[in-house]
Amino acid sequence: MQIQVTNTPDELAILAADRIEELVRHKPDCVLGFATGSTPLATYQELIRRYRAGRIDFSKVRTFNLDEYWGLPPSHPQSYHSFMQEHVFQHLNIPADQVHLPQGHGIDEETACRDYEQEIRRAGGIDLQVLGIGTNGHIGFNEPAKELRLDTHLVTLTQATVLANSRFFNSPSDVPRRAITMGVRTILSSRRLLLLATGPQKAAILQQLFQRGISTELPASLLHLHPDATILADQDAAALLA
Ligand code: PGA
Repeated sequence: MQIQVTNTPDELAILAADRIEELVRHKPDCVLGFATGSTPLATYQELIRRYRAGRIDFSKVRTFNLDEYWGLPPSHPQSYHSFMQEHVFQHLNIPADQVHLPQGHGIDEETACRDYEQEIRRAGGIDLQVLGIGTNGHIGFNEPAKELRLDTHLVTLTQATVLANSRFFNSPSDVPRRAITMGVRTILSSRRLLLLATGPQKAAILQQLFQRGISTELPASLLHLHPDATILADQDAAALLA
């Protein structure tokens, strides 16, 4: 696992977009794994800027998102379908049938999980997966636990995650308690991982990530085992690293 520290979140977004642009140029029909959350937004904006400038063509790109709330229809304003549509997909030329998110509504659990794994496999696997990190060390919605699930599955969110995500809802009681997420094997099967971390609120978990060994209680620590995992952190997030 490599780490690269940038002076500012904007600089981090440029570096992340550089990596994605390079991949799309080299392999126009690549498979990108996207994440929701606040951290990747600046990277997505940078990609949109480059698309508008005619630098990147996304017409052959296929995408898979990490996770989705369970029980929210795609049209719900807080669903990750809506988030991605608003912040990313409506601004890029990725055909709608090349965009994939886990289905969190109107489908049974087993079918939703199995279909998503199959779709990723049919696409040939993910070339580059963008990740955020929770302040509790989660990746996707794989929360700290004694045992982590391998493949796409349903999870009950921890109180910490419900509280962290309640900023997007009217109140914490409106946050869905369950979500569908890629499992840790799904994520680690991506050929390249790019974890983005910005801001002082991520400093303590990054410190743990580099001080502790691998633990299911810190799901992001599994990235130590991946042959091509890079962490991009801004100065604030990297403040406690030696
Ligand atoms: P954030 O979320 O980018 O909004 O901090 C990251 C995460 O919870 O994975």
